Amino acid sequence: MIDFYLNGRRQRCQDVTADTSLLELLRTRLDQTGTKEGCASGDCGACTVAIGEPDADGKLVYHNANACITPAHQLDGCHLVTVEGLAAGERLHPAQAAMVDCHASQCGFCTPGIVMSLFTLYENQRRQPAPLTQDRLEEALGGNLCRCTGYRPIRDAALAMGDYPAADPEWAEDAQLAGNVAWLRRPRNGEPAAGGHYVAPQDLAALRALKARRPGARLVAGGTDLWLETTQQLKALDDLIDVRQVAELNVIEETTEGWWIGAAVTLVRLIPLLAAPYPAFAHLMHRFASSQIRNRATLGGNVANASPIGDTPPVLLALDARLRLDGPRGARELPLADFFLDYKRTALAEDEFIAAIFLPRLAAEANLKVWKLSKRREDDISAVLAAFAWRLDDGVMRDVHLAFGGMAAIPRRAPVAEAALEGRAPDAAAFAEARAALAGELTPMSDVRGSADYRRLAAGNLLERLRLMIAAEHGPADDDVDNNNPATKVTLDAYAH
Ligand SMILES: Cc1cc2nc3c(=O)[nH]c(=O)nc-3n(C[C@H](O)[C@H](O)[C@H](O)COP(=O)(O)OP(=O)(O)OC[C@H]3O[C@@H](n4cnc5c(N)ncnc54)[C@H](O)[C@@H]3O)c2cc1C
Ligand code: FES
Ligand code: FES
Repeated sequence: MIDFYLNGRRQRCQDVTADTSLLELLRTRLDQTGTKEGCASGDCGACTVAIGEPDADGKLVYHNANACITPAHQLDGCHLVTVEGLAAGERLHPAQAAMVDCHASQCGFCTPGIVMSLFTLYENQRRQPAPLTQDRLEEALGGNLCRCTGYRPIRDAALAMGDYPAADPEWAEDAQLAGNVAWLRRPRNGEPAAGGHYVAPQDLAALRALKARRPGARLVAGGTDLWLETTQQLKALDDLIDVRQVAELNVIEETTEGWWIGAAVTLVRLIPLLAAPYPAFAHLMHRFASSQIRNRATLGGNVANASPIGDTPPVLLALDARLRLDGPRGARELPLADFFLDYKRTALAEDEFIAAIFLPRLAAEANLKVWKLSKRREDDISAVLAAFAWRLDDGVMRDVHLAFGGMAAIPRRAPVAEAALEGRAPDAAAFAEARAALAGELTPMSDVRGSADYRRLAAGNLLERLRLMIAAEHGPADDDVDNNNPATKVTLDAYAH
């Protein structure tokens, strides 16, 4: 049974199959058709809803999510808000009123999703007021596509809604709501969530026991990769173990050497941690999918998915990350470099799962740069992703790590190109050798995101970008970058990310 609140009212849904999406539940079981289906793959945002979960103080905090790829069973113990739940009678919520007044809707198909993203932005602004910069607006609305209106009026609505008189939905007046939702989240360890096929263990021991009994069951975390197997490939997902609520998988532990990140930690939780030690990694996370996806997707899911174009694996490889794998036979540690074996094949045994990912601290003088190339800046998968780590020691490069996504069947480092730079001054000759080595040692794929030739050229160009950036930061190591000559001067800003 799924036990949750929908627009302030308790809902108990029996006999929901394991692979039912939240969108399907809303439209076919609960007759809530305001939430639309566009792509059914997390790309368009038409199905956006707001999911409220109690924070440490017991207050409901709302995030936007794509209903089409959210497992319905993940609603258990949440407050779901849909577009039907915003207006109080004839009185529109400010997010709706501003959309009307700014003429921000035409055919209206995207509008419920956009209103729900605006609603979560509105709620976030109330909790933590901050200037609505261009970055914040893109962050809030980057996962919502509109084919007819154009984004200027939608942006106007986002900027205007804060000036409307507060008009809360009726359910917001229920002082008991947060407590009632929190009560639904009482520990129900090992209790099957539905028909024995969708189980959400609450701790490591229960997860191990389930993996021992049903090693072949699929694990689901955010579902933002897995659910596409049902919506796009029409596969049945009838035996699922949900790892999102496993307490130990949600812990972030800081040590003197770095951070152990629990595999079920969502990307939105990870970003603030990355900002100080790895600004380039944090910047990448803002280009990872959309807020709807980042709110649900986990770091463990991104690694376990083992996609050649996953964004975090190359960065983790450049940082020499390690994994803690766990299962009924105990835990073991593995360098991430030994985890990816072949296309979508990993070193994970059938009964194992990823428990945590270790992010080593960068040495004080070490650097990390990350560049993602994709067709669109917002909500797009990488064609090529490069993550470079190195340090300069007395004018020569040391500990050079060059890692790439999109350049082979798996995310991987380029050891021959690394060797061409190791112990060398970062000059044009060393980088020309590294670039030639790269072309020989990596065999990129051709797909809709780019041909193999494009990817090879782009990866080589990113190496050249690195050389120019080092020259700009540390002074020219060769003749063709003269920082006193305005024609060749390389500014840090131009190569910031
Ligand atoms: C519209 C859209 C845009 C996207 N954009 C990006 C992008 O820009 N960059 C990018 O890298 N990815 C992107 N993705 C892919 C996806 O969001 C990420 O890979 C995400 O990190 C997956 O995490 P999840 O928690 O949702 O994993 P899930 O979908 O729940 O699981 C993914 C896989 O990992 C397995 N798994 C999950 N947790 C564990 C665990 N602890 N141990 C072992 N196996 C486990 C599952 O069984 C499944 O096979 C996008 C997806 C969509 C739909
Ligand atoms: S229907 Fe397009 S994101 Fe869900
Ligand atoms: S109003 Fe038609 S898609 Fe946005």
